[in-house]
Amino acid sequence: MILVTGATGNVGRQVVSQLRDAGAAVRALVRDPSSAGLPEEVDVVRGDLSAPDTLEAALDGVESVFLVWPFFTADGAPAVLDAVGRHARRIVYLSSAGVREDVERQGDPINQFHADVERLIERSGLEWTFLRAGGFATNALAWAPEIREGGVVRAPFGAATRSLIHERDIAAVAVRVLTGDGHGGAKHHLTGPELLSTVEQVRAVGEAAGRPARFEEIPVEEARRQMLASGWPASVVDGIFDAHAGMVAEPERITSTVEEITGVPARTFRQWAADHAGDFR
Ligand SMILES: NC(=O)c1ccc[n+]([C@@H]2O[C@H](COP(=O)([O-])OP(=O)(O)OC[C@H]3O[C@@H](n4cnc5c(N)ncnc54)[C@H](OP(=O)(O)O)[C@@H]3O)[C@@H](O)[C@H]2O)c1
Repeated sequence: MILVTGATGNVGRQVVSQLRDAGAAVRALVRDPSSAGLPEEVDVVRGDLSAPDTLEAALDGVESVFLVWPFFTADGAPAVLDAVGRHARRIVYLSSAGVREDVERQGDPINQFHADVERLIERSGLEWTFLRAGGFATNALAWAPEIREGGVVRAPFGAATRSLIHERDIAAVAVRVLTGDGHGGAKHHLTGPELLSTVEQVRAVGEAAGRPARFEEIPVEEARRQMLASGWPASVVDGIFDAHAGMVAEPERITSTVEEITGVPARTFRQWAADHAGDFR
């Protein structure tokens, strides 16, 4: 039995569906089964990663766990990993390609919590694999309201250049790792197959949706104010903007790990935009 956390999210939902397609026994951890929207045949169990006592039923009989960490600190991770360790033997963790091994402290809170969770997992005694993903193509879903309402995406860092990855490809790797052998102790750096600037991403989404879309550069301070107003912690916002500024100077890397593990090339951003065209209409 494989337990998938974050099962209603971008990646976890795909992991559940691809594990089912592969014939694996899969259970989905969700906070609210009534709104989870998972297929009826899926074994859906209620549990909350911020309340480790609630995880026992979900972990009963589980061999492997796909872990998504939906918090900005690793404070709650030791108790969750204790609970996992009482039942499972293997954990596959959705981490970040931004985690650096050559520093004691990461440069931003997001990579810091990923590095902290990774370290705790390494010490847990579980067999582990880290999926260190680069930027998700699903980040573009944040533009959907602007594209629907007029086609102008206002943001900073139009020249930031990323190798965005399709959630289906992260999930496809997760399924191979969760159902196969030979990935224990691996830190897989997962990316999409090509580099696109933010300006090019907006254009590609507009073309896929059949709605002309263009990027309009705004000052960082304006975007920062908007994110703070919608509840993002300041240190996280600053970390994200620093990372984007870095991607103007130095684009994200491209790896071939998706193809090496799944046997199929990683999907392009245009394929992602076509798959999600309806979200932008
Ligand atoms: N975006 C990027 O570019 C990027 C790059 C590398 C790594 N990552 C990492 O990827 C992860 C996010 O993955 P995603 O995009 O697939 O997730 P997502 O779509 O943001 O969904 C988050 C999931 O976590 C669940 N969740 C939230 N709070 C929970 C709790 N207290 N207990 C149990 N489940 C809870 C949500 O379930 P509910 O339905 O209950 O809300 C949902 O299924 C983050 O750790 C992020 O740092 C992101």
